[in-house]
Amino acid sequence: MGSLDGKSVVVTGGNSGIGKAIVLAMAAEGASVVVDWVAHEDQTEQLLQQVRDAGGKAVGVEADISKADDLHRMMQKAVDEFGRLDVLVNNAGIETRQSLLDTTEEDYDKVMAINMKSAFFASQAAAKRFIDQGDGGLILNISSVHEDWPMPGNIAYCVSKGGMRMLTRTAGVELGPHGVRMVNIAPGAVDTPINESTTSNKDKLGKLQDAIPLRKLAKPDDIADVVVFLASGRSSYMTSTTVVVDGGIMQGSVGL
Ligand SMILES: NC(=O)c1ccc[n+]([C@@H]2O[C@H](COP(=O)([O-])OP(=O)(O)OC[C@H]3O[C@@H](n4cnc5c(N)ncnc54)[C@H](O)[C@@H]3O)[C@@H](O)[C@H]2O)c1
Repeated sequence: MGSLDGKSVVVTGGNSGIGKAIVLAMAAEGASVVVDWVAHEDQTEQLLQQVRDAGGKAVGVEADISKADDLHRMMQKAVDEFGRLDVLVNNAGIETRQSLLDTTEEDYDKVMAINMKSAFFASQAAAKRFIDQGDGGLILNISSVHEDWPMPGNIAYCVSKGGMRMLTRTAGVELGPHGVRMVNIAPGAVDTPINESTTSNKDKLGKLQDAIPLRKLAKPDDIADVVVFLASGRSSYMTSTTVVVDGGIMQGSVGL
């Protein structure tokens, strides 16, 4: 018996990196998973097959989460396929690695639409569904240590994740009386495609590892394990807050 048996889950950006690990971990614990994707259909099909080969349930939905219509279609997919929605994981995200002085309006809008606006309106749609269903629900946001910790040269990303922090703190309070919970997970550095420019450069990778008290990047599974815990019945008094999963990097010092 899995800790997520019978739960219907939507994971945005579910075919890569952290999202993929979340899909596999939740399905292995018995959840039925809707895997949202916008790129790499082949990768998505392989992932869906991997879940089914292991005896799990997963379906794909092609949805650009920066568009409200796509968000509604994505959520409806869970209801059509699995009869209800129990957990939304707002995972998809991008970064542009630009400073305040370099960021164009177009880049700013793109980061905010994919990282922040999508989480806002997906959470709204999921919360309405949860309230109609009448027995609570859970929204998990994959934010970042940069919801709270400046990263010079990646400012739009930090602003979007900071917004996600306040979304969770505020919406968690608004939705608590309905039994709907909202929690952020703030990873530090995780070995996924989003970090390829660092992990493929030996010097940059060494410096990053030295700055992490545990001396290694997280694996996507390290984040997925926390998602499974939060989605299980064992976190039922947690809401409106952030769980940091960062190997200690936010507390790190240069030690001089
Ligand atoms: N990797 C890290 O070090 C790290 C650290 C902290 C937080 N995060 C966050 O974790 C989340 C997942 O990142 P990752 O590291 O797995 O990166 P990734 O690049 O492997 O995955 C990002 C996913 O988002 C999807 N996506 C992008 N735009 C989309 C759109 N418009 N609609 C739907 N999906 C879209 C991509 O197709 C991909 O599936 C992101 O929100 C990221 O900010 C990552």
